[in-house]
Amino acid sequence: MTVLGAEFTESRIQDTETRSFYITTPIYYVNDKPHIGHAYSTIIADVLRRYHRLFGEQTFLLTGTDEHGQKVADAARARSLEPQQHVDEMVKNFTKAWEELGIDYDIFMRTTFTFHKDVVGLALQKLFTQGDIYKKEYEGWYSISEEIFYPEKDVIDGKSPSGKPLVRIKETNYFFRMSAYQERLIEYLNQNRGWIYPETRANEVLGFLKQPLGDLCISRPKARLDWGIPLPFDTDFVTYVWFDALLNYVSAIGYMQSNRTKDFSRWWSRVVHLIGKDILIPHAVYWPTMLMALGISLPERIIAHGWWLTSGGGKMSKSEGKVVDPLSMKEVFGVDALRYFLVRGMRLGQDALFDEQEAINRINADLANNLGNLLSRTSGLITKHFEGTIPSVRATLGAASEELAGFAKKTVALVLEQIENYSPDLAMETIMALVTKANQYMNEMAPWKAISSDRDKAAETLWCSLEVMRLAGLLLSPVMPTKMAELMNRLNANLSFSVDSLMWGQLASGSILRVGEPLFPKIEHVETETLA
Ligand code: MSP
Repeated sequence: MTVLGAEFTESRIQDTETRSFYITTPIYYVNDKPHIGHAYSTIIADVLRRYHRLFGEQTFLLTGTDEHGQKVADAARARSLEPQQHVDEMVKNFTKAWEELGIDYDIFMRTTFTFHKDVVGLALQKLFTQGDIYKKEYEGWYSISEEIFYPEKDVIDGKSPSGKPLVRIKETNYFFRMSAYQERLIEYLNQNRGWIYPETRANEVLGFLKQPLGDLCISRPKARLDWGIPLPFDTDFVTYVWFDALLNYVSAIGYMQSNRTKDFSRWWSRVVHLIGKDILIPHAVYWPTMLMALGISLPERIIAHGWWLTSGGGKMSKSEGKVVDPLSMKEVFGVDALRYFLVRGMRLGQDALFDEQEAINRINADLANNLGNLLSRTSGLITKHFEGTIPSVRATLGAASEELAGFAKKTVALVLEQIENYSPDLAMETIMALVTKANQYMNEMAPWKAISSDRDKAAETLWCSLEVMRLAGLLLSPVMPTKMAELMNRLNANLSFSVDSLMWGQLASGSILRVGEPLFPKIEHVETETLA
């Protein structure tokens, strides 16, 4: 990776005012309680959005819930409730969790919103009228829990590829002519290598497309399932959940809504879908072919993250047993430290083992010790020797301070580049390396000694150390919005990205440094609760 200097920082911030950035999370099945995997997707999307907003772009974050389908209907029946009543209650688990985890979304989409149901009807009608949807009798293997039909070749010992029970179903259904778009999709994938991130996932999709793509069954007979959106051209059928759910990404921002055409063209001009690797095929095959058929351009990028695994090596999910409750973890770690750990703890795109002790170690090492220590030792000396006032510095810095300043400038440029490249975990590493460097610099300069022989030198060291805190605080603010706002407040510094604020040397001298409790108290071992 190239390390660019100030010019990069400058161009990154200046050319972005009119750029838009629309990022989506999957819309989660409403029956589940949000666990750490759901929290991860949502926090990463929120973090990326906050960075792009600081870049000066117009940003929009979508999250929400997927509320139709068999499982929801069954769960409602088991509780003797109408499905709508059931989902209205269940959705609160998500809105509450996202509020507590500091998710700043613009829309919380629900597939039961009337305007969404209208858009699904209009899109279906358009595809039906243009001949992209047809009716045929079908017999096949169906997984109720995944709501997917499997062709014979994918059935293993009577189960789905992921081991879910299958039932044999024979019925008449409507199909979307997905196969007609196979060649175009393959060509698109070959010509746009970065479209799916990480690239290994693109190879997976291309591998999948080596087989002839069947047509997609997009209906369910009402006689079997009535909790869904009726097909506009045949009300004996409801819409297949995936077809319904994927369209939320466009209905949310105004597609096929005559009073919102501007919104739609503005947000759809640059779209990033963040998903987990298990839902790659619906997003990288069903969705682009649906978009092609509807005459809508494809999203800019699909980012597929990996899974948080349990210590047994399985995907953390209810069926696998231990599932970590993000809200109970938040109680122990604090929301910002939890967000930091989730961003830092997983290479975006790869799997990671979820280990509570590792989370504690990481938070203690990076936040309580590294960052916390730099702030507390610097603040302590300023209180003691400079009456709590941020000291001023000589016009020319000494060699060690110059070196630190150079390191900080490179850090800023590299962090922006890593965020741009969807590597927030690496960006955290880069920021922490700067903080470590500043702690080493403090050790070498020993301002507690220099104060008696060379007061100006001690002042310079303390100022440079705080300047690193300012830059680190600014760069970490999308991940830890509350704590970093507190930090910037202590430094009397401005919390917005700009060409100036990201440059070395902006910390104002002469103001009073606010001193307070440690920003990140050290965490002792505690067992967090798991979801029942
Ligand atoms: N409703 C569909 C998505 C429709 S989007 C148009 C769905 N919902 S889900 O609730 O089952 O899962 C949503 C996301 O959670 C997926 O991206 C999935 O990868 C993610 N996670 C579920 N368990 C996970 C882990 N253990 N670790 C990380 N993320 C995982 O699929």
